[in-house]
Amino acid sequence: MKRAFSYYFWFMQKITIAIDGYSSTGKSTIAKQLAKALNYVYVDTGAMYRAVTLFAMKNEFTSDNEVLNVAGLVAKLPEIHLDFQPNSVLGYAEMYLNGENVEKQIRTLEVSKLVSPVAVIKEVREKLVDIQKGMGENKGVVMDGRDIGTVVFPNAELKIFMTASPEKRAYRRYKELLDKGEDVKYEDVLVNVQSRDHIDSTRKESPLRKADDAIEFDNSDMGLEEQFERMYGYAQRVIAKQK
Ligand code: DC
Repeated sequence: MKRAFSYYFWFMQKITIAIDGYSSTGKSTIAKQLAKALNYVYVDTGAMYRAVTLFAMKNEFTSDNEVLNVAGLVAKLPEIHLDFQPNSVLGYAEMYLNGENVEKQIRTLEVSKLVSPVAVIKEVREKLVDIQKGMGENKGVVMDGRDIGTVVFPNAELKIFMTASPEKRAYRRYKELLDKGEDVKYEDVLVNVQSRDHIDSTRKESPLRKADDAIEFDNSDMGLEEQFERMYGYAQRVIAKQK
């Protein structure tokens, strides 16, 4: 049934789907599923900010929890080449930084601790927003992040803003990190989630906020299947209205 729909959507006018929200709300899981079902491209913009953070760490522009040399990082931005390359085994694209697959490295707690301070840098945002606009210019894209519905695609036909309690989000992230073999404490993950929420929503450059025309989606007490069915329903309705 789902497959029949995806062929149907292949011929329909494509739309842009912007999914924003707090960290660890499960945006990427649902965005990936939605893109697959609609035959759309999925773009994880958080991975792009994480890759720039990894670059900053490798070039020693950072301490454990702050960017020490913003000017140094900004000067090197033209040397950063980001690329998503499909992994047919996993069924989604992985992040490459200057030709190196960094998918694993960008998901560590060390990168998570530094990514919000990197993401406040105006020049970093300008570079990444430009790339993101280019990736979505032909529509048929599901993009997730913090400023997709407000800054990257303010005219997106469908905007979702995902929320869940900080404790639920931290617990999900904690489990994910444990599954990947990382040695982490739940309390540290909770502190990181809360601190990222704070930095992301109070920063000067494109702070995290719900676009006025976004659908607020609280998934604190919702399983993956229900989330997908609801999102897919929203998308079907918007696509059906396109001329
Ligand atoms: O989605 P994520 O948790 O992987 O994102 C990592 C960080 O990147 C997040 O704390 C804030 C930043 N980010 C951003 O500022 N703007 C985006 N569009 C995406 C992510």
